[in-house]
Amino acid sequence: MLQVDALHQYYGGSHILRGLSFEARVGEVTCLLGRNGVGKTTLLKCLMGLIPAKQGAVNWEGKPIAGLKPHQRVNAGIAYVPQGREIFPRLSVEENLLMGLSRFSGSQATRVPAFIYELFPVLLDMRGRRGGDLSGGQQQQLAIGRALASQPRLLILDEPTEGIQPSVIKEIGGVIRTLAARGDMAILLVEQFYDFAAELADQYLVMARGEIVQRGRGADMAQEGVRGLVTI
Ligand SMILES: Nc1ncnc2c1ncn2[C@@H]1O[C@H](COP(=O)(O)OP(=O)(O)OP(=O)(O)O)[C@@H](O)[C@H]1O
Ligand SMILES: [Mg+2]
Repeated sequence: MLQVDALHQYYGGSHILRGLSFEARVGEVTCLLGRNGVGKTTLLKCLMGLIPAKQGAVNWEGKPIAGLKPHQRVNAGIAYVPQGREIFPRLSVEENLLMGLSRFSGSQATRVPAFIYELFPVLLDMRGRRGGDLSGGQQQQLAIGRALASQPRLLILDEPTEGIQPSVIKEIGGVIRTLAARGDMAILLVEQFYDFAAELADQYLVMARGEIVQRGRGADMAQEGVRGLVTI
C-alpha cells in the first residue's frame, strides 16, 4: 500500500500541495482527478522523488520512502509514466524498453521481457524503429511498456490519454484493466478524461487547491457528482 500523509510542496512562494493525504492499495486502481494546474503532476513528481517534498510522509509497503532518490524508488518497485511520455526519440523502441530494466542485472537487464510485447503487440512490430517515429498513441504505449519493464508493484500514470486517439485509449484502458485484475499491483492513475477514469477506478480522489477535496469508491462516482467537479 502507498500511504501519503500531510504532504506539502512549494514552488518558490507558491504553496502547491497543501497537506495532502490518501492511500492507494495493491489490487486497486486509484484515480486522481482534478482540473488543470491543481498540482497533480507536482504530487507525482514528489512521489517519485524528482522534486523533494517539503513536509509530510510517504510510505510504500510500510516503509518511509520520502528520503529516497528516484532510482531507489524504482528499485523499491515503483514505476512512473510521465505526462507527455518522455520517451527517448533517437533510441529505438527496444532501446527505450531496455531503459526500463535499470534495476536488474545480468541477462535480466539486457532482454525485454516477453510480457511487454504481449501487452503491446505494436511495440514488437515497431521494435527497430526510432521512438520519435512512432505516433503519439504508440509513444504512450512505449512509455507504459518501459515503466512495466521494471516489473513494478506500484504503477503511477500521469494523464495517459492526453492527446491520444480513441482506439489507442481503448487499448491502454484494456491494459490497465488486465494489470489491475492480476491483483499484485497498486495503480495510481491521474486523469482528466472523466469517462476513462470512471470506467477503471476502484477508488477515486478529487484534487483541488493542492488538497484532496472529495474521495470515494469508483462505482459511486456518478451519483457523487464527480464529473461536475473535474470537468470545465
Ligand atoms: N517548475 C515549476 N515552477 C513553478 N511553478 C510550477 C512549476 N511546475 C508547475 N508549476 C505550477 O504549479 C501548479 C501545479 O502544476 P502541476 O503541473 O502540478 O498541475 P497539474 O494538476 O498537473 O496540471 P495539468 O492538468 O495541466 O497537467 C501550477 O500552477 C503550475 O503553473
Ligand atoms: Mg499535470
